Amino acid sequence: MLLKIPNVLTAEQVRECRALMEQAQWIDGKVTAGYQSAQAKNNIQLPEDSDAAHRMGDMIMAALSQNLLFMSAALPLKIFPPLFNCYQGGHSFGTHVDNAIRPVKGTPHKVRTDLSATLFLSEPDEYDGGELVMEDTYGVHSAKLPAGHLVLYPSTSLHHVTPVTRGARLASFFWIQSMVREDSERALLFDLDMGIQRLRQEHPQSQTEVSLTGVYHNLLRKWADT
Ligand code: NI
Repeated sequence: MLLKIPNVLTAEQVRECRALMEQAQWIDGKVTAGYQSAQAKNNIQLPEDSDAAHRMGDMIMAALSQNLLFMSAALPLKIFPPLFNCYQGGHSFGTHVDNAIRPVKGTPHKVRTDLSATLFLSEPDEYDGGELVMEDTYGVHSAKLPAGHLVLYPSTSLHHVTPVTRGARLASFFWIQSMVREDSERALLFDLDMGIQRLRQEHPQSQTEVSLTGVYHNLLRKWADT
């Protein structure tokens, strides 16, 4: 399932991130790439342990925990601390699949990458190119979203970023280990949750909502690992 989630960050929070990124030191993006993806990756990013990355990462984590659409779609167990990249002057990232397991630097923790997320921090009219293109069994999809918006997609998808030929494309990217490993099961739970919420609005306090909420939790109990 591929989902675009609007307004994860407010305009004010995006401005704060942009100010931090302008003053930060950038390094070659290959440092967090695996062997195969390092051949394809051509961009710059903030060091994982930089002060700017920590401050923006905390802001994004707090925003995600309040975002009902994100929580329902991702059912997160662990979120990899957000990373930050910049594509400019022809930078691109060729077709690849993200590494399955990501160690969290400076900790004994590892995150299994069930879902990949890109949070856009530049407006689409600030740069040419820079589309995130994802391939799945339903075909090819692309995303170039307003600043503060996020795209969530299965980490099993082949994907690439087209060359940025004008301006700069700033973004945060990270991975989620979901309580529900299987994309198809997670997608069913998300559809059911959205249906229950619509039902709640259309028919407040219906017995049907109570029984469907029971089905939701019983499926979650069956499929979730914590
Ligand atoms: Ni990737």
